[in-house]
Amino acid sequence: MMKVLYLKDYPSFGDFDQACFRNILAELTVDSPTIVEVGSWLGSGSTQILIEHVKRFRGRLHCVDTWEGSSSVPEHAELLATYDVYESFWENVRRAGGADRVEAHRMPSTIAAACFADRSVDMVFIDADHAYDCVRADILAWRRKVRLGGILCGHDCETRVTEANRDLLWKARNGDHIPGGPLFRDWHPGVILAVDEVFGGAARLWAEKGVTLPDGRHGPGTLWDLTST
Ligand SMILES: C[S@@+](CC[C@H](N)C(=O)[O-])C[C@H]1O[C@@H](n2cnc3c(N)ncnc32)[C@H](O)[C@@H]1O
Repeated sequence: MMKVLYLKDYPSFGDFDQACFRNILAELTVDSPTIVEVGSWLGSGSTQILIEHVKRFRGRLHCVDTWEGSSSVPEHAELLATYDVYESFWENVRRAGGADRVEAHRMPSTIAAACFADRSVDMVFIDADHAYDCVRADILAWRRKVRLGGILCGHDCETRVTEANRDLLWKARNGDHIPGGPLFRDWHPGVILAVDEVFGGAARLWAEKGVTLPDGRHGPGTLWDLTST
């Protein structure tokens, strides 16, 4: 039988990103929100924070994932060879007390998007395959599912596209990450380019805004977000 990987073994969402995400969620003030997470993997990172929110506000969290890993991330295949990732996801959801608030959609992201009516979702969080074509397709498929005034956001956008970094990012767009700049060890070129292409400068980058942790440390995060208009 395949092993199950529990919460403590695989922290995938750092302190600053957790704080950014809580700040973004604080702006989602509706009761019984419908939230979609595109890319949940073990359910041990962003999923945990979303579960906190749907428990508190009696909402529903839809987790969309193939649970087959991203082709651009070799570590995903290694983990899949050893662990039952889908069962690990559910174990981590249960341990967070979210089993009755979470629904899993085990299918490719753009197919899952077709199951949701336009403007029917309060928040979509995108964190699936980070290759440029995939992020772009995810943003385009999911942005219209968000209701007016709702939130579209995502992970791993460490910087803006500039004349100085455009070529570097473009050459690396089909991979997961490259060595980053002064603020972050890694950059995710596909995310950075897709966010820039679809939204221009309209998306807020928490790399620029920064966030303060409960212990007083201040620093940048890698989330991006914008309000649907
Ligand atoms: C970066 S991980 C998600 C991490 C998670 N948000 C966290 O904080 O721990 C990316 C996930 O996207 C999923 N994925 C990759 N391509 C996908 C696709 N086309 N449709 C749905 N899920 C996909 C992978 O299976 C993997 O679980």
